[in-house]
Amino acid sequence: MSVHSSANIKRITTHILQEMKSRGEKISMLTAYDFSMAKIVDSAGIDIILVGDSASNVMAGHETTLPITLDQMIYHATSVVRAVSRAFVVVDIPFGSYQGNSSEALRSAIRIMKESGAHAIKVEGGAEIKESVVRILSAGVPVMGHLGLTPQSIYKFGTYSVRAKEESEAEKLIEDAKILEECGCFAIVLEKIPASLAKKVAETVSIPVIGIGAGGDVDGQVLVMHDMLGITQEFKPRFLRQYADLQSVMMDAFANYIKDVKNRDFPNERESY
Ligand code: KIV
Repeated sequence: MSVHSSANIKRITTHILQEMKSRGEKISMLTAYDFSMAKIVDSAGIDIILVGDSASNVMAGHETTLPITLDQMIYHATSVVRAVSRAFVVVDIPFGSYQGNSSEALRSAIRIMKESGAHAIKVEGGAEIKESVVRILSAGVPVMGHLGLTPQSIYKFGTYSVRAKEESEAEKLIEDAKILEECGCFAIVLEKIPASLAKKVAETVSIPVIGIGAGGDVDGQVLVMHDMLGITQEFKPRFLRQYADLQSVMMDAFANYIKDVKNRDFPNERESY
């Protein structure tokens, strides 16, 4: 274990994440939505677990992240928090629970923190949600920002293509990152933007910048667990590295079980009372 490593740290905090950026140690982050998966990824030593609203896609089967509710996010977050002993747990505030009304934003954030026991919340957007971010932070709730491709605004953009390729959009993104830092956010996720722009943001702000489809010159990386494990096979963007083919492993196991039941091979005598 290197001296520049957080591997021996018992519990990850915002302070430790900031120190990791300062000493150039990359931050690892993955999504999780349930107790069993969260327990495994926490034991593997992940730094941040995101209870993402991608649960709407991978857990509930919706096409977008828009339908998931605050109650459903709290259910997922509560299951994850029960499993975790080391990672820092961040929860997405779902669509419609914070935009345009800072009092509702604060209420939603407080419900997540109180009812799930999570450590922080994540919001999508910059200048347009500043009031909500400030209000949540004033209650002592750590906030992670999310810029670039923001899936809760999918119908505004119309596609999941790379964002901020145009100069004006890139400039706004840098301004938004500065606003989130000035408000007091502890980190920012950058999704699907040019690597050169992500590098510039990571150099401009002093808080950790975590990328997904944003190149390697940021302070950490995040992926959706089901995508990197190969459980979902239909979603294969260029930025995704698939670390396993669990869909094949699971299909084999299920097919063998079905065969054994049909053939009366399962259960055998040793498996019976
Ligand atoms: O909901 C989610 O999984 C996310 C990640 C893609 C960053 O927001």
